[in-house]
Amino acid sequence: MSDVHIHKVPKAVADHAHINKEVYEAEYQRSIEDTKGFWDEKAREFLTWSKPWDVTVEHDFPKGEVKWFTGGKLNVSVNCLDRHLETRGDQPAIIWESDDPAVDKTYTYKELHAEVCRFANGLKAEGVKKGDRVCIYMPMVAEAAIAMLACARIGAVHLVVFGGFSPDALKDRLLDSEAAVIIVADESVRGGKAVPLKANADQALKSCPSVKSVVVVQRTGGSIDWTDGRDVWYHDLLENASDDCPAEEMDSEDPLFILYTSGSTGKPKGVLHTTGGYLLHAAVSHKYVFDYHDGDVYWCTADVGWVTGHTYIVYGPLANGAQTLMFEGVPTYPDASRFWKVVEKHKVNIFYTAPTAIRALMAKGDDYVKTCDLSSLRVLGSVGEPINPEAWEWYHKVIGGGRCPIVDTWWQTETGGILMTPLPGATDLKAGSAMQPFFGIEFGLVDNEGNEVTGNPAEGILVIKKPWPGMFRTLFGDHQRYIDAYFANYPGMYFPGDGARRDKDGDYWITGRVDDVINVSGHRMGTAEVESALVLHPAVAEAAVIGYPHDIKGQGIYTFVTLMDGVEATDELRQELVNHVRKEIGPIASPDVIQWAPGLPKTRSGKIMRRILRKISENLIDELGDTSTLADPSVVDDLIANRPSQ
Ligand code: PRX
Repeated sequence: MSDVHIHKVPKAVADHAHINKEVYEAEYQRSIEDTKGFWDEKAREFLTWSKPWDVTVEHDFPKGEVKWFTGGKLNVSVNCLDRHLETRGDQPAIIWESDDPAVDKTYTYKELHAEVCRFANGLKAEGVKKGDRVCIYMPMVAEAAIAMLACARIGAVHLVVFGGFSPDALKDRLLDSEAAVIIVADESVRGGKAVPLKANADQALKSCPSVKSVVVVQRTGGSIDWTDGRDVWYHDLLENASDDCPAEEMDSEDPLFILYTSGSTGKPKGVLHTTGGYLLHAAVSHKYVFDYHDGDVYWCTADVGWVTGHTYIVYGPLANGAQTLMFEGVPTYPDASRFWKVVEKHKVNIFYTAPTAIRALMAKGDDYVKTCDLSSLRVLGSVGEPINPEAWEWYHKVIGGGRCPIVDTWWQTETGGILMTPLPGATDLKAGSAMQPFFGIEFGLVDNEGNEVTGNPAEGILVIKKPWPGMFRTLFGDHQRYIDAYFANYPGMYFPGDGARRDKDGDYWITGRVDDVINVSGHRMGTAEVESALVLHPAVAEAAVIGYPHDIKGQGIYTFVTLMDGVEATDELRQELVNHVRKEIGPIASPDVIQWAPGLPKTRSGKIMRRILRKISENLIDELGDTSTLADPSVVDDLIANRPSQ
């Protein structure tokens, strides 16, 4: 990779930044050699504790045990709201930009605090207690963040379910978490179109006996069904509630939230995060990775349904007293200049988005950008999947005017916050590389046998050698799966499921998942989830799902489907199967390609050879490799001959 262009840290950026190169090197070293001292200091500097902790960190990876700040007490909503009231009560906390470009609304810290307290009292009136699970199935409205903070205030554990998930997907998550309450909106609005969230929830709730009450936020006023005694309007709850709500004192290790994500089996995993360590990691990484300074306007375009929305729209920014922008709409409505118009309108300084959005907007051409004033921008961020150098360079030049560093941040739902990233004032950049470990993170690369690959350059499976504050503590209701999936493969280390290489300078490049998880438009999906959905259809005998390179989405979904005997393979059936997957999981899981497969390439022991399917999906027919172990090699010829044109 000798031809990689290095973008040096501009002097103006380094001079202004919290962390420059020398500080990063010294502090990183300290964070590894004196982990306790480093995080003790940060925990005192960044958070307000009602009781200090006794032990900073304890861990035993093989047993799946990790604890941070044992004995410490604090409340997340107090840290995100109350402690800012004196110094910045009248400063914007949340700037909400609606789907409609003419509508926005700002909540100051005082206003946000008052509404969170009232809603927390409202939840108590609905019978919610510390430890109860509360589901939030909402559009990108401020009430979603308010609901999260209200749960945190009273010690309830929230599980936010992305508003694009289907009733079935919602039902699975409600059942697994045994949620007591769900908070929904009547409808969500995206790109001018309404989505019937309350109707979806009604559908899911038919088989969720644990849910006793449904709180409904009125977003559009569209007509909805109403179940007396179960459903209650959000505004009615607020009207009757006091804005005085003393916060529950939480233990550092008490659960804060569950967030479901995909693994390599069909069943989503309930990633559980706790209180003190998570919030600390969120706050410290938000400040240093984005080089956040008081008064900056910060915008992360993620949805609160994903971890990025949790950590970098709500918890990290609010813990730091930041102004965080929440956007309800989509990048292309009313047209492809929308992101840039929002940047101009709210004078956004820090902008954090996903490569898929950058690629989609790049494809629309520069004219949509040129009409907007982007001079307020100072730092750009990328998350969710590897960013291809072409998109990186466009983002850097056309959006950032060549002056804004791009932080390509690698992390996961499980990690709670960013673990690998450049820092704006400290790291020279290489397009497509997530560069360097964040404070306290010690990466390694191992080969398939688990032996560490040392030296540079090197390539292997990424592992993490010690715990960090924001890491998840279990999979809800299935601690054994936590141990098996993350700590059993490489004893003594955490296995994230990604491959990586280190270049000759020691900078990291993520090469993608090494398991059966794919990444479609930055959405993480288990191939097994889509396969399970497909085989539920009566026409389908068997299905194999592969991620294949897609210009905009990063990876597209390529499915090989074997039909039941006697079922005719028609275009109508193809469409029906696409609709079926949308119904089972949600539109994000729509197959891009369905290829009829009279047979699938299997070994004699019956294992599908995905390597071969991957090559067929990519049309790399010359690279199929050894097919001699197949039970019936002729199925491959058939698949090659009948590849659909894309
Ligand atoms: O494969 C990595 C990819 O996204 C996975 C985590 O997905 P999720 O839990 O949904 O969280 C996404 C947002 C944090 C990782 O295992 N990934 C995430 N960020 C990057 C990335 N791959 C390459 N570069 C990144 N910056």
